[in-house]
Amino acid sequence: MSKRNLAFYDTTIGKKAVMAVSGLILIGFIIGHMLGNLQIFMGADKLNAYAHLLHSMQGPLWGARLVIIAALIAHFWSAISLTLRNRAARPVQYQRKADLATTYAAKTMIFGGIILALFIVFHLAHLTLGEIGEFDPANVYANVVAGFQVQWIAGFYILAQAALALHLYHGAWSFLQTLGANHAKYNHLRKAFSIALALAVAVGNISIPVAVLSGFLK
Ligand code: HEM
Repeated sequence: MSKRNLAFYDTTIGKKAVMAVSGLILIGFIIGHMLGNLQIFMGADKLNAYAHLLHSMQGPLWGARLVIIAALIAHFWSAISLTLRNRAARPVQYQRKADLATTYAAKTMIFGGIILALFIVFHLAHLTLGEIGEFDPANVYANVVAGFQVQWIAGFYILAQAALALHLYHGAWSFLQTLGANHAKYNHLRKAFSIALALAVAVGNISIPVAVLSGFLK
């Protein structure tokens, strides 16, 4: 990175910009991944053909993986350094802490982020590497269904999607703020958009373990 870019990253707004851009890349992946996964409702052949197509394009697949890994690292890194900076700015704790401009979602960003990090590690071991339970690399449909027939696995996925929804809600809200969309007149729209995004992703993702648990998908 050039000196000038490094100096920008060192500012609080620079770190927030890095969080926003890396967050945008990650949400793009999450939406694309959800739409791809929802093909499970169109049958095993459809989902497996889609997985086969992705696996047959190793070059673009690894290109996308590298972009996602870089975005995850940038997102973590700037989150940690922003948190440390916020703490250092107030070395003496408040005697009485009154939150003026925060929400439950904002205060739990780091905690939710940790749950999501644990989820991603588990999820890769489960459905990409096949380290948990029976696994057939050629039959993604069977792997998903067999996985969610195990109640604690389905439960953990559902819990992680709840954490993802809170994270996305606050993330989208902050992203729009970093871009400058902070105006009393439009804040209700910003809130509605962030809630709609978080709910759409949560409902789409949770529908899959719920469909397996209820016996609709088998
Ligand atoms: C119920 C929800 C989800 C289902 C059913 C699901 C399903 C899957 C499946 C079947 C794979 C393996 C695909 C293949 O090898 O062809 C996969 C990979 C992956 N999933 Fe998910 N997923 C879900 C949610 C998520 C979420 C919320 C995230 C991120 C926060 C995520 C991140 C990933 C990543 C990073 C990979 C590896 C992709 C790669 O091979 O490069 N997934 N998922």
